[in-house]
Amino acid sequence: MADITVRKIRFSFEEPFDFDVPDERLGAMLPPLGLSMTMPYLEPYLIRSMKVALREITDPQLADDARRFSQQEGHHYRNHALLNEQLRGKFDSATADALRAIESDLEADYQRFSRTKSLRFNLAYAEGFEAMTCALALAAAEHGTFDDEMLPGGEVWSWHMAEEIEHRTVAFNVYGHLVGSYPYRIVVGTWAQWHYVSYIRRFANCMARGLGRNPVGPKSPVQRAALRNYLRTWSPRYDPARIEMPAGVQALLDHYSAMAS
Ligand SMILES: [Fe+2]
Ligand SMILES: [Fe+2]
Repeated sequence: MADITVRKIRFSFEEPFDFDVPDERLGAMLPPLGLSMTMPYLEPYLIRSMKVALREITDPQLADDARRFSQQEGHHYRNHALLNEQLRGKFDSATADALRAIESDLEADYQRFSRTKSLRFNLAYAEGFEAMTCALALAAAEHGTFDDEMLPGGEVWSWHMAEEIEHRTVAFNVYGHLVGSYPYRIVVGTWAQWHYVSYIRRFANCMARGLGRNPVGPKSPVQRAALRNYLRTWSPRYDPARIEMPAGVQALLDHYSAMAS
């Protein structure tokens, strides 16, 4: 059984957004902001998939993990929706409308997946997303970027990334319990990652156009570490249960436990 605490927190997002930064820094800021834009659609889709899975999960401990996973994701996307509202407000109305159009496309995709795709597909998508996010969160933890104030939104990032590491085993174990196929995890998981990342690019490019900027920068050490972690998820021996909780992340989780209502 995973050790998952549900922390109900609402951040206030009062600090100003500053896009007047060098190209390299803007290039590092826009993909995470694109990620934030996907959350109010991606995370409810994961929750819908878990809800269907829960009808078939026969292991009570795994069912409890799946419920806690969904509750954590529910608090994540509600905070990101608040952040995204602020974010859209920083752009002119044409860019804000263009961002909303991408949001509608993404929501239409996820609603269609929930309606028409098999549970097997939706669970492989969930695990593809979770494996990729955990790889990124571990890289951020390794490089101390959890403490960085570089991203608008402040602590929402460290809270969210720490909880992604905390619930790292759930989608993998639910997939293993109900589906289990390694090739299918890789094929659909990789397609899911491509589908998801293509939306992050659309959001980031849209924001860059809205700012009249074309930020391109070299790959950061965090991105290189994330890629290394990500490639390990392709191994047939990959199991997120073998990943140790990094030093510092537990302290963050304890800090947010104390903050939660
Ligand atoms: Fe999340
Ligand atoms: Fe997650």
